[in-house]
Amino acid sequence: MRQALVAGNWKMHGSRSSVDELLKALLGGSLPSQVEVAVCPTYVHLAQALALCAGTSVAVGAQDCSHMQAGAFTGEVAPAMLVDQGCDWVILGHSERRQYHAESDDLVSAKLAAAVEAGLSPIVCVGETREQREAGEAEAVVGAQLQGALSGHASLAGLVVAYEPVWAIGTGLTASPEQAQEMHAFIRGQLAGIGEIEADATRILYGGSVKPGNAAELFAKDDIDGALVGGAALVAQDFLAIINAAA
Ligand code: 13P
Repeated sequence: MRQALVAGNWKMHGSRSSVDELLKALLGGSLPSQVEVAVCPTYVHLAQALALCAGTSVAVGAQDCSHMQAGAFTGEVAPAMLVDQGCDWVILGHSERRQYHAESDDLVSAKLAAAVEAGLSPIVCVGETREQREAGEAEAVVGAQLQGALSGHASLAGLVVAYEPVWAIGTGLTASPEQAQEMHAFIRGQLAGIGEIEADATRILYGGSVKPGNAAELFAKDDIDGALVGGAALVAQDFLAIINAAA
């Protein structure tokens, strides 16, 4: 049995007051014990989020990390620093990093190695663009991203994969539960072919316009083990409703 995981990717949103308000509302809500929950604020809000979530069931993660543990890398944050602060999770290879920061599969792979070495649990994102889906290339693209980021690692216990079709992110367009399940089953098949990964134990999250109104039908699918939530994770009542739909 894979435990459901619902993670909130806050992207570049938040202020001291909004983080305080959002986390207090989340922590004051109903958090079913069978669902693992994580929030991923910006780097500057991590310490505040960690302090508010300390001693609760809500874990905290970062949205990215460096591929190095220390050194002359201006502007970067090492995975070991995130662990030192108390983070459990890190999102890697998000499509917005691939798009706006030209992150390649090789770089995602190097970040993954550094994150795992430091002791972070990684959420590795994959997904095709609308043009790629319309050209019938969705599986080829996602398969190549998985191979590029995940092959060649000595151990990837605790790995989580997030399928986030780029055309569904922030657009209000969601993959249908059937489209998502089809890709999740494909991803699980690909994972089975990558040396060190235990495919049946690996959680595969769906991301892309997950809302309270569509979460339950997505979570009902066999290979959808939770969600990586963007916009709806910034509204406590919506995020709580999504979490409860996974219970
Ligand atoms: P939205 O839920 O806002 O579509 O964002 C999804 C996402 O990119 C989560 O990482």
